[in-house]
Amino acid sequence: MITREQLLSSVSHLIDPVFGLSLAELRFIRDIMIKEGQVSATVLLSAEDEGFKEELQHHITDAFTQAGADSVHLRFRALSDFERNEAAQLAQAKGAAPTNADAETAPEPSVLDPESGVQFIAIASGKGGVGKSTVTVNLAAALARAGKKVGLVDADIYGFSVPDMMGIEDRPQLVNNRIIPVERFGVKVISMGFFVEENTPVIWRGPMLGKMLRNFFNEVQWGKLDYLLLDLPPGTGDVALDVHQMIPQSKEIIVTTPHATAAFVAARAGAMALHTDHEILGVVENMSYYSCSQCGEKDYVFGRGGGAKLAEELHTSLLAQIPLGVPDNHVAEPDYSPSVYKADTETGQIYNDLAQQIISRLDK
Ligand SMILES: Nc1ncnc2c1ncn2[C@@H]1O[C@H](COP(=O)(O)OP(=O)(O)O)[C@@H](O)[C@H]1O
Ligand SMILES: [Mg+2]
Repeated sequence: MITREQLLSSVSHLIDPVFGLSLAELRFIRDIMIKEGQVSATVLLSAEDEGFKEELQHHITDAFTQAGADSVHLRFRALSDFERNEAAQLAQAKGAAPTNADAETAPEPSVLDPESGVQFIAIASGKGGVGKSTVTVNLAAALARAGKKVGLVDADIYGFSVPDMMGIEDRPQLVNNRIIPVERFGVKVISMGFFVEENTPVIWRGPMLGKMLRNFFNEVQWGKLDYLLLDLPPGTGDVALDVHQMIPQSKEIIVTTPHATAAFVAARAGAMALHTDHEILGVVENMSYYSCSQCGEKDYVFGRGGGAKLAEELHTSLLAQIPLGVPDNHVAEPDYSPSVYKADTETGQIYNDLAQQIISRLDK
């Protein structure tokens, strides 16, 4: 049996953007009724913004569900003048610095705004399973090691894997109605996976996804960033095309394996980048060879030359060849992560070198 107190404490992390206090403290969630797992409540809105309302709907429903509600029904209404006054007095008494909704605030410019100075790098591939996410995660970590401020958006709705690969267990916090990315290995990460219940089938298509992605750029408190890496869905479908069009200024890295057919499908992803006027920074060939730990010989198990051929076809360069081999597992260490290679390993150094090439290309 859930109680009113449990429901209210489940939303204690939701801070009202106007008054700077939690919704519970402000008593903005009222008329809570609990009947056999069905919860209904009234939510008072401090701002008249459809997006804000939707976000509250989402977060409160989530929190109540986690607290044990089977179904959640929320009604919304605007604050009355009297209630607004009361809330302002409470905020003042509690020393919370209420942000005056009417006052001119200088919000951080969206990362999509060219003024923000953020350089976008999309990581694309022709098909899944070639190591696109692995390359994204490790390039991000290497750029951060080189002192850059790095963000990563896991935009692969079909297989968001970045949180698991980096060993991320935290979830983003919502502060003043802004999403705070989770930081890992110096990289600020936002993933589709944070917002979807485990194992729910992906039902978003086109418009929903586009909206979600736009939120990742506009509603996330990225802070100052030098680079924002995007793990794109594989292939040349609608979603990849959406992202291309949303971020015309993005540069691209194409990932392939050395096998001729992989390089062939990757060429299509490259052709799309060129078609949408995205500059291709180069090709990364993953799973290029197996380095024998005994004799040091390189064994080209998946064939040779796919990356170089693709680079030639796209009039760009082959930036790196990454050998086969997963990182040593550092189980139980605080920096455990299944897919991030440490800086001092052979593969870690290849990623450091890749990061340096990117920096020297893009730093003005
Ligand atoms: N160089 C590599 N050596 C060994 N395994 C790798 C390598 N790169 C990626 N993998 C593994 O291959 C699988 C697919 O990689 P992933 O990065 O998820 O590909 P994608 O994002 O293109 O689907 C993962 O299990 C990953 O751990
Ligand atoms: Mg992936």
